[in-house]
Amino acid sequence: MNPTILDVDTGIDDALAIAYAVRSPALEVLGITTCFGNVSAEEASCNTLTVLDYLESDIPVYQGAGEPLFRKYLGEKAVAIHGEDGLGNRADRILKRGIEKQHAVDFMIEQIKRRPGEVTLVCVGTMTNLALALMKAPEIAGLMKRAVIMGGAVTVPGNVTPWAEANIHNDPEAAEWLFRSSAPVTMVGLDVTMQTLLPEEELDRWRRKNTPLASFMADISEFYIQCYKRNYPGIRGCGLHDPLAVGAVIDPTFVTTVPMHVQVDLEGSLSLARTIGDRREQPDRRPNADVCLTVDADRFLAHFLENTV
Ligand code: BDR
Ligand code: CA
Repeated sequence: MNPTILDVDTGIDDALAIAYAVRSPALEVLGITTCFGNVSAEEASCNTLTVLDYLESDIPVYQGAGEPLFRKYLGEKAVAIHGEDGLGNRADRILKRGIEKQHAVDFMIEQIKRRPGEVTLVCVGTMTNLALALMKAPEIAGLMKRAVIMGGAVTVPGNVTPWAEANIHNDPEAAEWLFRSSAPVTMVGLDVTMQTLLPEEELDRWRRKNTPLASFMADISEFYIQCYKRNYPGIRGCGLHDPLAVGAVIDPTFVTTVPMHVQVDLEGSLSLARTIGDRREQPDRRPNADVCLTVDADRFLAHFLENTV
């Protein structure tokens, strides 16, 4: 069992990632922490509780950062991609419980210190909570097992600008703080997540199951797929970004990684938030991340589909 904290900005693919993680016998999900991103931190918490309710799980939820470290959160929610409510306009549950009192950042620090060398953080939203935790308790960089992040793009274009991926773009300084922290980082970026698509046909199979969870997942994924079809003509599904980050913890052989020095562009007017991986044969700085460059998409997808809904 891998003790894991999942950090989310729930979001449709976050919801799929939560289901995959919670249902995996390989992971012990200690808690789910939330941050702004696809939606506000408050909405991310409500959406996370909604998903956990469908999963009949009582895993605690800790709310974290409501805005980026140094920039202003303009409240630019990803409405076109994830819907007004972040869940394809399907967040209709009356919640039976609320969030925990402890702040997400303190929960992260406490858990990492309690189990030195054991806890994996899977960050599938902005890196703000983890950066704040590293600021408050820098020693956790050497105490966490690993931070597996969904974010960035080293060899492929971005998805919010020609260069930048959304989770990095939402708080570039937080991501750079993590890369500079000496924490062991695995970067699951668009390089691999755009190769793992949820096929539209799968939704019919989910619907035939006729369970509240399967119908919910099918509905929200349908919203996401329609958006992908508009943005990427000819595409045959939606990107399983956040689930692949979870997959890389469940079975690291789904991906192959290359150690690399990664830096976030914090100044470029055209390339702000670009993750620049030094791919030269003789880089001048030591690697600070294991960057996923290939993925066994078929094996991952089969595992995800078999174990999630
Ligand atoms: C990432 O951005 C968000 O919209 C998704 O939830 C995912 O974490 C993909 O770039
Ligand atoms: Ca996300």
